[in-house]
Amino acid sequence: MKIFESIQIKNIEFKNRIVMAPMVNFGLPASPKGIISDGLLHHYLQRADAGIGLMILQSTSVTSSKNIDGRIGMYSDEHIVNIQKIAEACHKGGTKFFVQLAYPSIGYSRGDTINNFTEADLEKITDKFISAAERCKGAGCDGIELHGAHSFFLNMMASPLSNKRTDKYGGDINGRLLLVKNIIEGIKNFSNNNFIVSYRMGWNDNLDIDVQTAQALAAAGVEMLHVSSGIPVNRELRIPNEFMFNDIVYTGSEIKKHVSIPVIVVNNIRTLHRGNILLEDNLCDFAAYGRPFLADGSFALKSMKNYDYEPCFNCKECQWFVNGENCPAVKQMI
Ligand SMILES: Cc1cc2nc3c(=O)[nH]c(=O)nc-3n(C[C@H](O)[C@H](O)[C@H](O)COP(=O)(O)O)c2cc1C
Ligand code: SF4
Repeated sequence: MKIFESIQIKNIEFKNRIVMAPMVNFGLPASPKGIISDGLLHHYLQRADAGIGLMILQSTSVTSSKNIDGRIGMYSDEHIVNIQKIAEACHKGGTKFFVQLAYPSIGYSRGDTINNFTEADLEKITDKFISAAERCKGAGCDGIELHGAHSFFLNMMASPLSNKRTDKYGGDINGRLLLVKNIIEGIKNFSNNNFIVSYRMGWNDNLDIDVQTAQALAAAGVEMLHVSSGIPVNRELRIPNEFMFNDIVYTGSEIKKHVSIPVIVVNNIRTLHRGNILLEDNLCDFAAYGRPFLADGSFALKSMKNYDYEPCFNCKECQWFVNGENCPAVKQMI
């Protein structure tokens, strides 16, 4: 099965195409200083050696200057040690490890704007992303993922629906992606062939803009693309009847046809078998899974060995947004 085949990007060999998607564990907040708590560390160490090709750590703040609501951070050297522990645990089992970096607490759906930041503010934010990425490299991570999806800060900078700036950070796609380009250029000053810069991209109004954005991101130096939802939050899309997956996966699979960098698709893929169909059809390079890894941390290993695992029930509201202990799949295992 193609999902179990290795793939090399730069000098990094991923043992298979299975990705654990980034997911904030809201029931286990970080310390007020953004340090990963013992409970959260345990959550990741439990999942670190579980047949995964790539684990992506949850949204991690690049700054202390915002109310980060119990989010973990990578804005201080104090944050390195626990992230290093997760990276080491992943590497022991041959899993690669990225941290998802985000500028927190700015969201389109909350009515926030990115249009009031001064150019000096954006330069400071650029430096914060670069320093956080450098810490990740120092901690032994194989790369970082810039969080440009789900209508948060970088997604708002990239989208014409939220970016109404009239300076160099606005206007056409090159202006809207200038901040990302500057971040990537800064990271490439210290990264080498053993460190990957990935980007989680949010979709746009339509597929044409999605493809243009993906191509511009690749031209800006993004080395791996992870496609998810964005602004607008919902959109109309004509999906062929025979396509077995949802609009988010469809968007990713269409983008894959138009870029040469590796593409991760995600959202409700649910089983390794279904992910493999996408891979065999060359509609992606990796299949990512979120809730299946929350419902059962050993989802990938158990699937590979044909053991029973607790599948995600696809609840109307995922309990992990509040407290994972209330997840019905987790309760079933106790
Ligand atoms: C509890 C929870 C927290 C999440 N946190 C993040 C996050 O930190 N960053 C992110 O990009 N997506 C986040 N997501 C979205 C997931 O990465 C993934 O895209 C989503 O769960 C869909 O995949 P799935 O159907 O396999 O679960 C989160 C999802 C859940 C359920
Ligand atoms: S709470 Fe429901 S949706 Fe969330 S992981 Fe558990 S079973 Fe899946």
